[in-house]
Amino acid sequence: MVTRALPEASLAPLSHLGEVWVSPHDRALTADELHAAVRGADAVVSMLTDRVDAAVLDAAGTQLRIVANTAVGYDNLDVAALTERGCVATNTPGVLVDATADLTMALLLDVTRRVSEGDRLIRSGASWSWDIGFMLGAGLQGKQLGIVGMGHIGTAVAARAAAFGMSIVYHARRNHTGDVGRRVCLDELLGTSDVVSLHCPLTSDTRHLIDAKALQTMRAGSYLINTARGPIVDEDALVQALDDGTLAGAALDVYEHEPVVHPGLLRSEKVVLAPHLGSATVETRTRMAELAVENVVQVLQGKPPTTPIAGTVTRT
Ligand code: GLV
Ligand code: GLV
Repeated sequence: MVTRALPEASLAPLSHLGEVWVSPHDRALTADELHAAVRGADAVVSMLTDRVDAAVLDAAGTQLRIVANTAVGYDNLDVAALTERGCVATNTPGVLVDATADLTMALLLDVTRRVSEGDRLIRSGASWSWDIGFMLGAGLQGKQLGIVGMGHIGTAVAARAAAFGMSIVYHARRNHTGDVGRRVCLDELLGTSDVVSLHCPLTSDTRHLIDAKALQTMRAGSYLINTARGPIVDEDALVQALDDGTLAGAALDVYEHEPVVHPGLLRSEKVVLAPHLGSATVETRTRMAELAVENVVQVLQGKPPTTPIAGTVTRT
């Protein structure tokens, strides 16, 4: 059962294993549709827009063996409920690291050099001309990037930012070997970085990690980039920090109440808004679909999945 169409070719390996149902809708399934469609399935390929909770698993039935999420983030899955039922849970790590790190740099450059703001200005028809002080932004050379969450994506962002002349500090649960910058506590990271970029998963520990207090700790004139998950940031507090001048800008790919965007962000010229495009390249989305399908094939053939979610069962 595939909750939303995937590239046709990526689904081919499934057709040898059984009947494949792919949602006919060009949108996420509603909760009711998901409950109905999942009934009797041996395997589910889900998207990050599907909430797979205990009720969905119960609606599916005890024969369900795997939920393969087509995303690296899996806050949409109730991992405890999956594990309790002996059901495998997989995600798609690795294949989207470069695409997401690239988009992070695109947003970082856009907000610090005011590209989208300038685009809006030109399209508005307002007159403009080159001037020594016109639409000045912030340079990156010699500035500090603070990376919150130093997994594969955070590490890939660090390498890119270093090539732009930035120094790196990071906040993570463990130390990283290699030349990736200095590990510091979150307060020091927020208080000393010119740009802060979020690369941690959404968990009960990271929900509203960037709240009013954290934003007030950030340097005056600094920038916040979020390509991780929206609810890591308290958007009311972010709007306040932009309005009161604490932050020079923010660039966001994800939203607290996605796909709804806070009206205070919509009206701010200091904010760059992208519609959750982190992994959105032809190459990466194809590899994500292939990896999700590969996980299903492995499990239905009685083998361990290629990319199980840590702490979940790997055999059914
Ligand atoms: C995208 O947001 C993902 O988690 O893959
Ligand atoms: C800018 O276009 C310059 O020539 O300096």
